[in-house]
Amino acid sequence: MQIKNNTFVITGAAQGLGEAISLMLAHHGARLALLDVNVEGLDETLASCKRTGAEGYAFTCDVADETSVRRCFASIEEHLGPIAGLVNNAGILRDGMLVKVKDDEIVDRMSLEQWQQVIDINLTGVFLCGREAATSMIRNGKGGVIINISSISRTGYIGQSNYAAAKAGVAALSATWALELARYDIRSAAIAPGVFETEMVASLRPEAHERIANAVPLRRTGAVDELAHAVEFIIENDYFSGRILELDGGLRF
Ligand SMILES: NC(=O)c1ccc[n+]([C@@H]2O[C@H](COP(=O)([O-])OP(=O)(O)OC[C@H]3O[C@@H](n4cnc5c(N)ncnc54)[C@H](O)[C@@H]3O)[C@@H](O)[C@H]2O)c1
Repeated sequence: MQIKNNTFVITGAAQGLGEAISLMLAHHGARLALLDVNVEGLDETLASCKRTGAEGYAFTCDVADETSVRRCFASIEEHLGPIAGLVNNAGILRDGMLVKVKDDEIVDRMSLEQWQQVIDINLTGVFLCGREAATSMIRNGKGGVIINISSISRTGYIGQSNYAAAKAGVAALSATWALELARYDIRSAAIAPGVFETEMVASLRPEAHERIANAVPLRRTGAVDELAHAVEFIIENDYFSGRILELDGGLRF
């Protein structure tokens, strides 16, 4: 699929990987629908995208809220017409041990709220946006592509019961949609990033940052542009579907 003049929706576009993906698409002449709950960050990303000459709109949208998502996608179609691509990128972390023990005493447990918040945004959000995008693509009859951001943590990681379960679910949704939607010429795939140089990682203490970088066989964290490049590859390669692109510098958890 070509990027130029096609409409792409990016969730979690206000910062980090979503911002880098939005800018990459803007540079390639995409028409953009940028979604986030962070209005200020969203406006900044939109302004950067517009400086490249791209057409785009910002939409305040909570991906975990069905009404918000349905309204937002209806508004996207009004402003930008049928959707060609969706990047399901919005996500949060609420790490904690299932049961935390200190000095032989149970001191904490992952709360249901902590579990549910991550499942709602990282998994249900992907389902809700994917459903609206697929509906628009099927109605339009010109195919499309849905890219879901999973994680290296999808196979399980300490302190991440909620996040790992959600990201494994995201991988499963990507494979399922590739099977269900291929007949409409809609592809679906996932990217499983390792550790990327977003604000959170960049602001770690130097020792902590070095420890993380040294655990990666390539001895560094990923650059956000490298993640955006993986999105570009999946959009442009019409034979990539139903699979997970692992982008982690060789890191294995
Ligand atoms: N950064 C990494 O190293 C890394 C590694 C693996 C996977 N990921 C995944 O990549 C994606 C982006 O990560 P990031 O590091 O850029 O995160 P980030 O926290 O910098 O950005 C996430 C964005 O999602 C938005 N968001 C949160 N809840 C939302 C909601 N309910 N509705 C709409 N938007 C919402 C936030 O406002 C924010 O702008 C996430 O899904 C994350 O799990 C990141």
